[in-house]
Amino acid sequence: MTMDKDYLEIRGLSVSFDGFKAVTDVDLTVLQGDLRFLIGPNGAGKTTLIDAITGLVTGTGSAQKSGVELLGKKVHQIARLGVGRTFQTASVFEELSVLQNLDIAAGAGRSALSLLRRRKSVLPSIEEALETTGLTALRDKPAGVLAHGQKQWLEIGMLLVQNASVLLLDEPVAGMSAEEREETGKLLQRIGTDRVVVVVEHDMDFMRSFANSVTVLAGGKVLSEGSVEAVQADPKVQEVYLGTASLATEDKESTDA
Ligand SMILES: Nc1ncnc2c1ncn2[C@@H]1O[C@H](COP(=O)(O)OP(=O)(O)OP(=O)(O)O)[C@@H](O)[C@H]1O
Ligand SMILES: [Mg+2]
Repeated sequence: MTMDKDYLEIRGLSVSFDGFKAVTDVDLTVLQGDLRFLIGPNGAGKTTLIDAITGLVTGTGSAQKSGVELLGKKVHQIARLGVGRTFQTASVFEELSVLQNLDIAAGAGRSALSLLRRRKSVLPSIEEALETTGLTALRDKPAGVLAHGQKQWLEIGMLLVQNASVLLLDEPVAGMSAEEREETGKLLQRIGTDRVVVVVEHDMDFMRSFANSVTVLAGGKVLSEGSVEAVQADPKVQEVYLGTASLATEDKESTDA
């Protein structure tokens, strides 16, 4: 098959805050179906990189989605091009139901009239997002009563109904239980097969379990890139992680058992 695959292609991307270079000359290519983890110490520039791609901060260089330049476009234009992101802290409407949250996400950018017209029935894309995220049984619950993990899944569901084909997820499993992490990993694998997914993460066990490939950012620059094994074995990576959360191949399960 020669179906066109989506891709994210970043070249020479830099972001400065009052002369401080938070991101410096980053090259990053992620193809559809490649579940890419973006790791690096605190302050490495991971969130700033996502902010630049999604138009929240100004970057120089180039960031293209499947050949379309994103830099210089407004936040809503970039979202409409199918580039979606989540934030380090969940941002769902707590008082509204799961379904209403998804409905708003699906209607974002559409006319009030078309929103009114189809409010009575559930859109197929919303049904599908509920299924994919495992939230079908919770659709009428206020989002505020959801468990922490379920809120993150709802946020991902909101990106799915917006037809995002590039998903940039900023620490999606932070604060999750082991069980929720496992569920989230499987969810990312499901949605990752036909989308470009970049996951910013600090949890090394989670990365080892679910990453297809890894990019390590440090001091705003790409330090290393490759398979989980290659990156873990890279002395440069081991150096920046020295004395912090260990990246060494430790087998937690066996010590816990
Ligand atoms: N709006 C801003 N103004 C000035 N400096 C900023 C701004 N946003 C981020 N920075 C700085 O840019 C650097 C990169 O920050 P960033 O939040 O991108 O790191 P990160 O890799 O996401 O870290 P963490 O793992 O802690 O989330 C840090 O030194 C941070 O203090
Ligand atoms: Mg961050």
